[in-house]
Amino acid sequence: MAAIGFVLPRITYHGIGTLEKLKELSGNKAVIVTGGSSMKKSGVLQKAQDFLKESGIASSVFDGVEPDPSIETVKKGAALMNKEEPDLIIGIGGCSAIDAAKAMWVFYEHPETTLEEIIPPFTIKALRKKASFVAVPSTSGTGTEVTCVSVITDRKKGVKYPLVSYELTPDIAIVDGELCVSMPPSVTANTGLDALAHNTEAYVSTLSDPYTDPLARQSVNMIFKSLPIAYKEPENLDARQAMHDASCLAGIAFTNALLGIVHAMAHQLGGMFGIPHGCANAILMPNVVRYNSSATKKYEDLAKALGKKSAEDYASEIEKLRASVNVPATVQEYGISQSDWDAKLDEITTNAMADACVGANPRTPTEADIRKIFECCYSGKKVDF
Ligand SMILES: [Fe+2]
Repeated sequence: MAAIGFVLPRITYHGIGTLEKLKELSGNKAVIVTGGSSMKKSGVLQKAQDFLKESGIASSVFDGVEPDPSIETVKKGAALMNKEEPDLIIGIGGCSAIDAAKAMWVFYEHPETTLEEIIPPFTIKALRKKASFVAVPSTSGTGTEVTCVSVITDRKKGVKYPLVSYELTPDIAIVDGELCVSMPPSVTANTGLDALAHNTEAYVSTLSDPYTDPLARQSVNMIFKSLPIAYKEPENLDARQAMHDASCLAGIAFTNALLGIVHAMAHQLGGMFGIPHGCANAILMPNVVRYNSSATKKYEDLAKALGKKSAEDYASEIEKLRASVNVPATVQEYGISQSDWDAKLDEITTNAMADACVGANPRTPTEADIRKIFECCYSGKKVDF
């Protein structure tokens, strides 16, 4: 199976201080979508509004987007956009703010659309008739500034919906590592390991190709080098920018090559037990590398770039990196009791098998395989099948 397209934002600005590129946008009116208070406190929001003003763009702000943004928040933002009629939508902040802004954009452009209509992948109608979209991330993990994904939560049903459509790929991404200095170490660790799961899964995906492979490989190398530094020295701008670039490159790789069973399984650990997404990926990744290694030789390339040889070497390098940023090694170590785990194992196994990310995994798993990998990742046993 081969991918047939390669989708990117029209421009990706990257580097310290590139927030200033907001000055070069053209438009009349912007709605900025942001999260709680960190962009306000750090002065980034004010700076952004000042830069827009310099290019004659008026702006209003929709703030307070919560982690795991709800459909209600999205509808409120879309209502503000319908009132303000922006020709620019700018998501600034963590991935939740940008994801929410992407979904608001859909309902602003198509007010008659319902969430139910756009849940099936690739069903969002053409955007950009009313506004273009700028993404300015302040965390280095999801790569949402360059991806076709927006994750929205229905709190009443307790379900997360990943909206997927290349229409959602932003027009402009601004990847400025200076915005990341306020990220706490645990968030730096978890989001950085999420990015490592993106590039690793994209690299071995059945849809990987000569367009995605170099980006995925480069991103892996940058994360192994820079994550421990960004974790220990939050104000080290070189490390922050390297992590931000690596996350963006991983985003470009996986939005085009898709993911695999690390994500299919991590979605269950997040949904059922509340394990942070990057942490869940990091717990699962070494054992999934071992499991997949009978179906692909590509982990050896990643190991060689780190001065090692085999897939097993790559799995153990991930384990070392994970330990160096104090992320738990097992589900048990994260704090889930044996009885809670046993009670939910059947359900998370069934749900993981139904996850869309299974499709591009290099080895086709059986339900029994997924269950055994989960069991190994609970206790810390190495996968040997
Ligand atoms: Fe992820």
